[in-house]
Amino acid sequence: MEEVKLTSLVRSSGCNAKLPPGDLHKALDDLPSAESENLIEGFESSDDALVYSLGDGRVLIETVDFFPPMVDDPFLFGQIAAANAISDIYAMGGRPSLAMSLMCFPSCLDISVMRRIMEGAIAKAAEAGVVIAGGHTLSDREPKFGLAVTGFADECDVWSNKGARAGDAVILTKKLGTGLLMTAHKAGESDAAEAIEQMRTLNRKAAENAAGLSVHAATDVTGFSLMGHSFEVAKASGVTISIDFSSLRFLPGAEDAARFGFVPEGRYTNEDYLADKVSIADVFSITQRDMLFSPETSGGLLLFMPPEDADEYLKNSGFAFRIGEVIERGKAPVTVC
Ligand code: CO
Ligand code: CO
Repeated sequence: MEEVKLTSLVRSSGCNAKLPPGDLHKALDDLPSAESENLIEGFESSDDALVYSLGDGRVLIETVDFFPPMVDDPFLFGQIAAANAISDIYAMGGRPSLAMSLMCFPSCLDISVMRRIMEGAIAKAAEAGVVIAGGHTLSDREPKFGLAVTGFADECDVWSNKGARAGDAVILTKKLGTGLLMTAHKAGESDAAEAIEQMRTLNRKAAENAAGLSVHAATDVTGFSLMGHSFEVAKASGVTISIDFSSLRFLPGAEDAARFGFVPEGRYTNEDYLADKVSIADVFSITQRDMLFSPETSGGLLLFMPPEDADEYLKNSGFAFRIGEVIERGKAPVTVC
């Protein structure tokens, strides 16, 4: 069988392929709410995962994530998809334990490609202490892969997105720019090595380094962009998140990718949805707005901690950086200055 490039088969890739947040809310808001007295977090709070009480002080945390490939190497794609799916368990403060795979696979690809995707996912899952113990495959024109992941935590240790308080420092644990860079990379521009390395890095250390410190709220930054995921926390917590643009760190080449127009479509649907929710100072250019609203794939954890705990965290986490602070709710839930 002749070799077909994975990314040549897809229209959009990674977390860029998410449905626009505005459409999602139209479809899902006001659905009959899930009634279960054991359900601690469900649909309503737009959190990273569901949280279900096991009745003995422990909770089960469950999430699912799958998407089309953003790289041609199937092993790497498996690793990135696994790291991305498992991240939502870390973003809830949980220990990921079990996973099942979801695979959509086109008949034009050699079956060995599927095996390599699984090998990548299994290797990454093992690094997280996760066992992939089953799954489901479909024949589909576009390849897609991901995991449904189950984790556990003590109920009192769960990080939700509703606890951010005025005075908290805002910390991000990975650089931004994966969506821009992978868009440029697909067009044959820009070296994506650092973006790929970052996307396949687990958020395990980012989560574990917060052990013993106070985390008021947490989420991870993926398809809805830094702006969208910040808004979800601001909304759930009833605060304003104030982000200092100059303290953001971007992967090398991300700004150039934006300047040269390699902007993923999700950037525009994100901004449309967030237009009246995010206030960005006039000094920022279109390129800088591209950098704020572009989807991220397998992004970092966004942690909200009291300043002393944040200092302690940053001392032990060279990869992480402070990007702003939480203030009392003002006019806009998120501000960038
Ligand atoms: Co998430
Ligand atoms: Co998710």
